[in-house]
Amino acid sequence: MVEERRVSDSRVETVHMVRPNHLNAAGRLFGGILMQWLDEVAGLVAKRHTHSNVITASVDNLRFIKGAYQKDVVVIIGKVTYVGNTSMEVRVDTYVESVDGMRRPINRAYFTMVALDENDKPRKAPRLILETEEERAEWEAAKKRREMRIKRKEEGF
Ligand SMILES: CC(C)(COP(=O)(O)OP(=O)(O)OC[C@H]1O[C@@H](n2cnc3c(N)ncnc32)[C@H](O)[C@@H]1OP(=O)(O)O)[C@@H](O)C(=O)NCCC(=O)NCCS
Repeated sequence: MVEERRVSDSRVETVHMVRPNHLNAAGRLFGGILMQWLDEVAGLVAKRHTHSNVITASVDNLRFIKGAYQKDVVVIIGKVTYVGNTSMEVRVDTYVESVDGMRRPINRAYFTMVALDENDKPRKAPRLILETEEERAEWEAAKKRREMRIKRKEEGF
């Protein structure tokens, strides 16, 4: 079994068109729908990285930067930024893409996903191969976020 994978090996990009059934009463993309799409992307990224079942342990720094509206093309990109022992951090960025291909950020979130064995118990996740300066910088930032999560968990927040 391969015990290490590149960030690019598990990168996921999905595209959705915002339709009337995705809107809230104010006519914007309903946040709950977007969160479902984000969770699906994070899960797929983690599955591709681990080649196993995974579970969402937490989501943090979820930022709704701008709204999206009917007929908008929503592009969601997920990638692994950090791997611990059994858990990994997946950053998920969401954009609205205009007809000329320009992408405007509308959301960013960080998911902690846990690799599961055949008994649904946490299992070791493959190491992450960092190839670019950006990936190394993300890893360092993710270490700080992980420390904050552990502290929050310890203190019961
Ligand atoms: C996620 C879960 C498997 C962790 O179980 P646990 O008994 O805390 O297991 P561990 O203590 O061994 O933690 C496993 C890993 O998850 C991480 N983790 C656990 N709780 C976490 C939290 N709240 N936030 C971030 N990371 C967390 C741990 O730091 C550890 O990472 P590491 O192995 O890389 O160091 C368990 O809490 C669970 O099953 N939760 C329900 C998840 C679920 O149903 N998700 C779907 C939501 S609809």
